[in-house]
Amino acid sequence: MSESPILTARHGRVGFINLNRPAQLNALNDALMDALGEALLSLDQDPDIGAIVITGSDKAFAAGADIAVMADWTYMDVYQSGFITRNWETIRQVRKPVIAAVAGYAMGGGCELALACDIIIAAESAKFALPEIKLAMLPGAGGTQRLPRAVGKAKAMDMCLSARMLNAEEADRYGLVSRVVPDAELQTSALKLASQVASYSLPALMAIKESLNRAFEGNLSEGILFERRELHARFASEDAHEGMHAFLDKRPPEFTHR
Ligand code: CAA
Repeated sequence: MSESPILTARHGRVGFINLNRPAQLNALNDALMDALGEALLSLDQDPDIGAIVITGSDKAFAAGADIAVMADWTYMDVYQSGFITRNWETIRQVRKPVIAAVAGYAMGGGCELALACDIIIAAESAKFALPEIKLAMLPGAGGTQRLPRAVGKAKAMDMCLSARMLNAEEADRYGLVSRVVPDAELQTSALKLASQVASYSLPALMAIKESLNRAFEGNLSEGILFERRELHARFASEDAHEGMHAFLDKRPPEFTHR
């Protein structure tokens, strides 16, 4: 039997998903994306999980969609099966924070998967590119939309039209990633960050994630209105009252995630 295309683990309130096709640099095929989607939904529904980390190997987070599988597909194949839409977009349903911990190559669909996460933490070895143009293809898993929102039009055009690869330092400077750490510290840094996030009130995290994502999907006044409603809704949560009283009492809060 072939090995599972993902491995999962739990550390406290953090769910870890390890992409696991090392011989193919974690090229993203259907089996992997189906398994990833299932794992994400399962962790999202688990009340004992507060944050999720997706990571790859030392050499590759993921080198993109599986070219060997796609090479002979026709338009009808991908249109009728809903390629990308059918299983790559499951991540958009996840309401808990998702952190991509990237070492090595994050290319094409691999870069797009990282961009679909909420936070990207990069090892110094991380390399980001949308090189689909070299295949006469297109970054079609959200890349042409999320990359310019992350790094601006000029850098996104440069990357998509020339296949330019960014190293971790450039990706950090351009705002594609939120922090860079030495390779040897990637997993512990990701766990530390995810554990910190997961220690906070889950409904507050979910509200912040949803509200922040609105900033990329609508106009400013609609986004501000949504944010204001989410702020008001915090006053219906037990954790917000606990958090504020704990601050005033000079003690750590005890969140019940309600
Ligand atoms: N699909 C399928 N197999 C892949 C792959 C991919 N995206 N990327 C790497 N592999 C395979 C290679 O074919 C090779 O397999 P074999 O050992 O059987 O020959 C193995 O992984 C190791 O790869 P390399 O020998 O090429 O490793 P390298 O260190 O020399 O190069 C690399 C690394 C620069 C990442 C190079 O593998 C590469 O350019 N990969 C393709 C990257 C790419 O074009 N990604 C975009 C895919 S299209 C896409 O993602 C569309 C979309 O938007 C959804």
